[in-house]
Amino acid sequence: MNARHDHSHQREFNLEDREFRFLVSFLSRETGIVLSEHKRQMVCGRLVKRLRSLGMRDFAAYCALLDSPAAGAEVEHLVNAITTNITNFFREPHHFDHLRHQVLEPRLSQSPKKPRIRIWSAGCSSGQEPYSIAMVMAEVLKPSEAWDALILATDIDTNMLKRGADGIYSAEDAAHIPENYRKRFVRRLHNDSDHVQMADELRRLIRFKRLNLHEKWPMKGKFDAIFCRNVAIYFDKPTQRALFNRYADMLHVGGMLYLGHAESLIGMNDRFEASDKTVYRRIR
Ligand SMILES: C[S@@+](CC[C@H](N)C(=O)[O-])C[C@H]1O[C@@H](n2cnc3c(N)ncnc32)[C@H](O)[C@@H]1O
Repeated sequence: MNARHDHSHQREFNLEDREFRFLVSFLSRETGIVLSEHKRQMVCGRLVKRLRSLGMRDFAAYCALLDSPAAGAEVEHLVNAITTNITNFFREPHHFDHLRHQVLEPRLSQSPKKPRIRIWSAGCSSGQEPYSIAMVMAEVLKPSEAWDALILATDIDTNMLKRGADGIYSAEDAAHIPENYRKRFVRRLHNDSDHVQMADELRRLIRFKRLNLHEKWPMKGKFDAIFCRNVAIYFDKPTQRALFNRYADMLHVGGMLYLGHAESLIGMNDRFEASDKTVYRRIR
């Protein structure tokens, strides 16, 4: 295909003001994700594939489908296409040191029978974050059978959850895992030297589930720590404020909330105090 052809395709799928405004408000209502004008090209680019596979000629038809009772499964495709899923193993490594020293190790010194520990990775994307948590957990809580320990890993994007549940990553991704953990928890795949799989020992610790943070949450028990990193940044301030308050409700007093490097609770919620850089402890 030559460049002229490429151009005509882009023109064919021009995202007009009216349709862009419809998509912005649909997504904000559905997911809390706020898209500003400078995301218009990105939205257009990511949805063109959907229009093609639905055999649609323009965005007006696509918006009409979303606005109709037949929208059904298309909402999931739309959300999967729009979310930004960038992640990595041991992203912001100081959080994992903090988890080890401030959450897990202190629990070792209190020793009720089979202590219960629950950690939530909210907005876990393709799973590198919950697997990083699981590696620290498996290393600290020995032997693991002596603990009732689980990680809940949730995301709105069903494609990402499938990748997390499979636990298969490129060797390039796995290079971000510190060597001591890599040796212990990462398995080679037969006939595929470009990919690796996470050990069953880790996979047993994690439950991957679809959860839209913008909706009602089904969980009953409280958490010792919640990781919600690089997720709230896509929401507006009132949505962030409400979300952080709901996280306070879901944490034990003394539990920790880990946020992304560009996110902060300062001036947002007085139920937390700072514990470390972008780590907050629930105090009330
Ligand atoms: C940039 S990734 C962050 C991944 C990981 N927490 C990290 O910091 O590496 C943001 C994730 O938030 C998810 N997300 C966005 N809106 C959401 C919502 N309303 N409910 C649940 N997950 C959402 C996206 O699907 C995406 O996988």
